[in-house]
Amino acid sequence: MHGDQSPGRTRPTRRQLLFGGAVAGFGAAAAIGADQALRLAAPVASQDDSVPVPLPGDDTVPFYGQHQAGIATPPQAHATLVALDLRDGTDRDALRRLMQLLTDDAARLARGEPALADSEPELAHVPANLTVTFGFGPELVRRASTSSTQAPAWLRPLPAFGIDRLEDAWNDGDLLLQVAADDPFTVAHALRMLLKDTRSFATVRWTQPGFRRARGSEASGTTMRNLFGQVDGTVNPAPPTVDFEQLVWITEGTFAGGTGMVVRRISMDLDKWDRLDRSGREQSVGRTLANGAPLTGTQEHDEPDFTAKNAAGFPVIAEFSHLRRARSENTAERFFRRGYNYDDAPSGEQISNSGLLFISFQADVDAQFVPVQRRLDELDLLNEWTTPIGSAVFAVPPGCAEGGYIGEGILA
Ligand code: HEM
Repeated sequence: MHGDQSPGRTRPTRRQLLFGGAVAGFGAAAAIGADQALRLAAPVASQDDSVPVPLPGDDTVPFYGQHQAGIATPPQAHATLVALDLRDGTDRDALRRLMQLLTDDAARLARGEPALADSEPELAHVPANLTVTFGFGPELVRRASTSSTQAPAWLRPLPAFGIDRLEDAWNDGDLLLQVAADDPFTVAHALRMLLKDTRSFATVRWTQPGFRRARGSEASGTTMRNLFGQVDGTVNPAPPTVDFEQLVWITEGTFAGGTGMVVRRISMDLDKWDRLDRSGREQSVGRTLANGAPLTGTQEHDEPDFTAKNAAGFPVIAEFSHLRRARSENTAERFFRRGYNYDDAPSGEQISNSGLLFISFQADVDAQFVPVQRRLDELDLLNEWTTPIGSAVFAVPPGCAEGGYIGEGILA
């Protein structure tokens, strides 16, 4: 990897600026302590227009690297997923041209620079940790393949599940763009520039915007909540651990260095959820709403005790709870969840049309994701309030070095 993909600063930090200038000037920093010096100097610096104050919008995530950005990257506040259908004439040569164009523009935008033919170049100057992640659907891989291509065997729609009520409008797609940033304006501009590149090659199939808390609203590293109010994402292999690396990255074949991506649009019936009391809500998952602790513990990251019984002799964490059902005894059946909430305009009598853009990354969709989804399909109390309405699977190619392009392993 070219450096790590954690958000980096493009300008000196406020602390560096202060100590490089005002504070260092009167030489007292060491004597009075750095933090106090910073506090004393802050008002002076904020009144001085000549000192640029670094902004979160300046932050960038490296585009180039062994893996694509937007997977191990700490989740940005906003993401829009767009799936495209390839036009009939988009053959292997056209796909190469398309991916070269897209890569070049995505890399520029991620640096906070305008796309090559940017019609609103001023809008590109706030990268806000922009990442663009590309995923290839089965049809794209079929058109791109040669006799030597080793495409993943799992690259096809997921098996049908009993809980599914899939709407074709949210299913599948040939090319996926996941565009994420801490500023929704940045996402909108980047998306428009990239879709202009695709216009003669593909048409938009579906668009799914999602959000988390705005950056700065909560301490960084706080586990996200979903619209049921639940802490969602506690038990999740975290980058950059060895566990994450082994579960997420493909190690062999044409997609080595890439990963498998599952996108499920899961509607959450908030109106029905309203009728459930707090204890019922907590039992459906097996965790408290207050801080996400297992019902047998007090802190979010406490290990659940599945053997604990209540006074009536029933398990404290019920057999049918989401926590119990989602956890397989086979530790290979795990994946990295990096989802977003969605909140669409309601229709008819609804007062909300909300849910989860469930997004998971795993090296092998069949071996890691499907068994867990099968377990949840068989039994999971949460199914009373949740319904999968869209489903798609993509092979995410590895990253590339500067001068290269995403997908070169299959298209070169
Ligand atoms: C709208 C639908 C869903 C909601 C509201 C939801 C919510 C939650 C919540 C609140 C937790 C507990 C906190 C945590 O560890 O993250 C959890 C855990 C988990 N969920 Fe979901 N989830 C949903 C769908 C799914 C789906 C579709 C899958 C996979 C097929 C899944 C897999 C998991 C896994 C693996 C865990 C961690 C289990 C463990 O502790 O080992 N979830 N989910």
